[in-house]
Amino acid sequence: MEFKIKSGDIAKQKTPCLILGVFEKHKLTGPADAIDKASGGHLSRILRKGDLNGDIGRTLLLYQVPDVGCERVLLVGCGKRKEFGRESYIKALAAAVEALNTSRTTQAVCALTQLAPEGLDLPCTIRQAVTTTADKTYRYEATKTDNKTSPRHPLERLDLWVSKKQDVKAAEQALRHGAAIAAGVTLAKELANRPGNICTPTYLADAARGLGDDYPSLRVEVLEEDDMEALGMGSLLSVSRGSRQPAKLIIMEHRGGKAGAKPVVLVGKGLTFDAGGISLKPAQDMDEMKFDMCGGASVFGAMRAALELDLPINLIGIVPASENLPDGAANKPGDIVTSMSGQTIEVLNTDAEGRLILCDALTFVERFDPAVVIDMATLTGAVVIALGRHPSGLFTQDDKLAAEIIEAGSQSGDRAWRLPLWDDYQEQLDSNFADIANIGGRDGGSITAACFLSRFTKKYPWAHLDIAGVAYKPGKEKGGTGRPVPLLTQFLLKRSGEG
Ligand code: BES
Ligand code: MN
Ligand code: ZN
Repeated sequence: MEFKIKSGDIAKQKTPCLILGVFEKHKLTGPADAIDKASGGHLSRILRKGDLNGDIGRTLLLYQVPDVGCERVLLVGCGKRKEFGRESYIKALAAAVEALNTSRTTQAVCALTQLAPEGLDLPCTIRQAVTTTADKTYRYEATKTDNKTSPRHPLERLDLWVSKKQDVKAAEQALRHGAAIAAGVTLAKELANRPGNICTPTYLADAARGLGDDYPSLRVEVLEEDDMEALGMGSLLSVSRGSRQPAKLIIMEHRGGKAGAKPVVLVGKGLTFDAGGISLKPAQDMDEMKFDMCGGASVFGAMRAALELDLPINLIGIVPASENLPDGAANKPGDIVTSMSGQTIEVLNTDAEGRLILCDALTFVERFDPAVVIDMATLTGAVVIALGRHPSGLFTQDDKLAAEIIEAGSQSGDRAWRLPLWDDYQEQLDSNFADIANIGGRDGGSITAACFLSRFTKKYPWAHLDIAGVAYKPGKEKGGTGRPVPLLTQFLLKRSGEG
């Protein structure tokens, strides 16, 4: 997909298709009004016949609109003017992309970007148009031989129209940001969607090396199990012991900032398949546990976006990667392992493995003297019970950092909602036999998981995102979403003074 900013007389745009918005009760939006006037009232005549009321997501394709430069006009219902915000804007964009797909259109000019959705400034509006279009034109093909059932999207190029010449520069910058976010999201989806027998820890390590080939400024290092053994990562290795696939600790470094500046460190759970181990999961929907590497995938995605923009920031991405399977060598309930931090852990439930691999990665990152560490993990089913599938669960004791992350989430439309990380919950992790237990009972399951991680993050500012509800969609539209790459990229843009 290619995107470009266009400006100039809308009636003269030479394009196979011009996309215009219509609000409810036949209200023509600014650009649509201009086309209506240029065509001698052609649009209002059609609307008066009742073909399109403006209901959100309805579309109408018009041929031979007189006296305008475009070959066709696609009218898109945008709902009620008063209620037009990010949600309806996304719905309208998605409907437009769908209609372009049906009509096999390869190029279009979109004027929905001029509709000023409530709460979005022009750069956010442009960015959202790019990311939504990329999202809706994405198709997973890697392991399909019959692509007829989900044909490749014909749309090759979308031009985003801005009315004011003086907005073009800012719009172009926003478009670059949007394209970088979309590239990151696409990478995260591609990794997420690959099955567990292909996307193994070794596959992820190779993907990191591949990213290093694409972006020569990226330094990639992969620690093998021997290296991790030498570092004392007994907790991480206890998880991979039950698998035939060797664990990997993937390290990606983009040193785009000042030489001495402390880095932002992103850590992502890269559990390429979580069967639960000896505490085996039920069979129902277990296939979805190939998505248990989505935290890791979001690290890849955010790295790619940052590299694409060559952000002036020191950024390190860490992905501990492993499988979690039942096996004679696997962790057993009651086993006690020693983490890299020296703390002993009683493994009361082998299915609480994410925290076991993350805790060693979180100790490992101390060596980078981080400005901040954010970890992403499909860590608990409980966060889906608490928050549903709309926001990521955010945990941190740092109020300023929480505000920064929540803001990055709402700016990018990839929201996070904070849950408490009070010390009151810590005692649920008491163990009779080790320094800490790996589960804290049913109450506040996501919170005690975050409490567990907090024991390993005392040396730097830290936040944790539980993305179990947002990283992938279950059901008919099953697939990775690429979240929270938009949030992370927005966070990095802001930190590097570009957002
Ligand atoms: N990967 C799962 C969490 C998960 C569950 C993600 C469902 C997406 C959907 C994690 O490793 C896990 O199994 N967590 C357990 C923790 C429990 C044993 C304390 C859970 O959520 O049930
Ligand atoms: Mn698990
Ligand atoms: Zn898991």
